[in-house]
Amino acid sequence: MNKTIIKGIGHYIPDNVLTNQDLESIMDTDDGWIRERTGIIERHVVTKFKETTATMGVEAARKAIRSAGIEPDDIDFIIFATLSPDYYFPGCGVLAQRMLGISEGECGALDIRNQCSGFIYGMSVADQFIKTGMYRNILLIGSEAHSLGMDYSTRGRDVSVIFGDGAGAVILQPTENETSGILSTHLHSDGRYAEKLAFISPGCHGGYYADDAEKYGFSEDPLESVFLTQAMLDDHLTFPQMDGQFVFKHAVTKFPEVIQEALKKAGKKASDLKILIPHQANLRISQFVQKRMGLTDDQVYNNIQKYGNTTAASIPIALSEAYHEGRIDHGDLVCLAAFGSGFTWGSVLLNW
Ligand SMILES: CC(C)(COP(=O)(O)OP(=O)(O)OC[C@H]1O[C@@H](n2cnc3c(N)ncnc32)[C@H](O)[C@@H]1OP(=O)(O)O)[C@@H](O)C(=O)NCCC(=O)NCCS
Repeated sequence: MNKTIIKGIGHYIPDNVLTNQDLESIMDTDDGWIRERTGIIERHVVTKFKETTATMGVEAARKAIRSAGIEPDDIDFIIFATLSPDYYFPGCGVLAQRMLGISEGECGALDIRNQCSGFIYGMSVADQFIKTGMYRNILLIGSEAHSLGMDYSTRGRDVSVIFGDGAGAVILQPTENETSGILSTHLHSDGRYAEKLAFISPGCHGGYYADDAEKYGFSEDPLESVFLTQAMLDDHLTFPQMDGQFVFKHAVTKFPEVIQEALKKAGKKASDLKILIPHQANLRISQFVQKRMGLTDDQVYNNIQKYGNTTAASIPIALSEAYHEGRIDHGDLVCLAAFGSGFTWGSVLLNW
């Protein structure tokens, strides 16, 4: 059976920089707090009316397509991972297909909603399609325009200071080469903690989960839309919510577990890794994982300082940067790992 290789890779970061100092001027926060708790110094944000999750994903995709030496029309399947899609529906996959000018009906498009683990889930899905011979050129994109849906007031500071915008993409192809390709993928979830990191409203929950339906302004009229109510807007419920400490505690347990799971399956040790690309959730989480696994600074790639947490985009952006900086060579053992909302987490182990 064929293995799956990353044949092309690219990323796109919007020009606008939002520093911690910029945030200090719009909410009650401070550079020291953000740096100490998260390691973040600045993040990039889209230019309104010019950039979206889909457009950034397409910019990254164009670079990945070029580096793979193929044409957009060669792509037979698109997987688009994001939690900040341009539209509630349809997904960004079809928008990317349109923007890339891929001929009508010539490829399938799948959107993945696994938040910070979206890219890992996408790699795993693509790997199955390629191994079975169903597709030969899969475009996998991770892209986020968080800044268009954040609460940049003091009320939302625990979440909004962490996240940034950007996109990364890869082209995945089959190979018969024994020395490179995906060795294994590992996917996990635990829905018990779905609301610990979530964007709940607006949505089609219709009061099902609410202890206090009045809070959401739900009416008893069965035909009145409760997708978005005035009460949701008035109470600032239309923003992401996070129990930061709870997320942190689970992340530092699940990251090492899922990395070890992949290493064990391949009969490898942490010291065999050329590089670990963890989802850039928080520099403290990455440092904790590094220490727990006994990895050196050279073995762990971090760029959250520049970009913040870019959710589904963070792994492909970091992988693309690491590759373009010459940190990864043919045959190197590379591990990608993520943890996030859901909770969902996972890893990919591959030889470059
Ligand atoms: C979010 C996170 C940085 C918060 O750090 P923390 O040490 O847990 O901080 P706490 O939430 O306990 O808040 C401590 C204080 O800082 C305040 N605070 C929160 N956000 C702040 C901000 N942006 N600026 C300044 N103060 C802030 C809180 O209000 C609280 O004040 P209080 O003690 O007066 O009540 C941390 O929990 C974290 O990184 N969690 C994981 C988040 C994550 O990775 N999410 C993505 C997963 S993919």
